[in-house]
Amino acid sequence: MTPKPTIIDCDPGTDDAVALWLALGSPELDVRLVTVAGGNVGLARTTANARAVVGLSGRAVPVVAGAERSLLADFRAEPAVHGADGLGGVVLPEGPALAPGIAADAIRDTLRGAAPASVTVIGLGPVTNLALAFATEPALADRVAEIVLMSGAWAEGNITPAAEFNAWNDPEALAMLLHLGRPLAMATLDLTAQAFVTPALVADLARRPGGACWQAALRILGALPASKRFGHRGFPLHDPCAVAWAIAPALFGARQAFAEMDLAAGPSRGRTVIDRWGRLGRPANLTLLETLDAPAFFDLLADRIAALP
Ligand code: BDR
Ligand code: CA
Repeated sequence: MTPKPTIIDCDPGTDDAVALWLALGSPELDVRLVTVAGGNVGLARTTANARAVVGLSGRAVPVVAGAERSLLADFRAEPAVHGADGLGGVVLPEGPALAPGIAADAIRDTLRGAAPASVTVIGLGPVTNLALAFATEPALADRVAEIVLMSGAWAEGNITPAAEFNAWNDPEALAMLLHLGRPLAMATLDLTAQAFVTPALVADLARRPGGACWQAALRILGALPASKRFGHRGFPLHDPCAVAWAIAPALFGARQAFAEMDLAAGPSRGRTVIDRWGRLGRPANLTLLETLDAPAFFDLLADRIAALP
């Protein structure tokens, strides 16, 4: 097995942290670069968190800071879910220093040094950094094997009734990726709802031994608030679903679909309009992840993160 060269763009973020550890602990992925945007909390915190998460894994992956705001507006944060510190109050040791430069430049440099159609690009936050990279050197899109995003919803949203948090925070950037002409897979809210974490599941996972990353991941899972959307029974673990697709696609059921963004001002701004049944007759631009083998997903997550330092 040749590990896939991988770039991860994120906004840690509790579930981003778990997703990063899943990626860093998986031999299927060769994580070459982690880039960071603001999102769940401000950029200063998301970068500090990304450094700490990568540092705890012991992997020497450069972390580069990027967008402090979206293409057209300020990011709206989500401290009620992720805590003011972005990690649900779970304190990690300070990570290594940021690598120099700006995320979009680092993404382009990494793509430029790669073979055609070879790089997996995983987006776990607002995709401003990725859009800036491809806007400034569109020819590098040919280096992308697949873009995998946690974003959007085919049904209801979570930041507005219509829109999911990452999509809503930079809809123009997401629209650009949807029309880039490269393979793109998306784990929407409808999919991540199947990666549902309950207190009983956390107690079960906690029986597995593991190193510092696993202990920190368990503390983060224990700190996440139960969601009103699910009757306070638990919460969906969003971002690791996108990483899991890059590692183990057999865990998913998927279909090809056409999707476009609602970019108009108004109550539906940021909505991902997904044509699951081909009503529009438009060519598919999306691999839509629809079903998840949740027990196998949580096994994978635990196996990979527990094996990290
Ligand atoms: C997405 O928004 C963020 O709060 C999470 O990290 C995830 O990427 C879910 O809507
Ligand atoms: Ca995220």
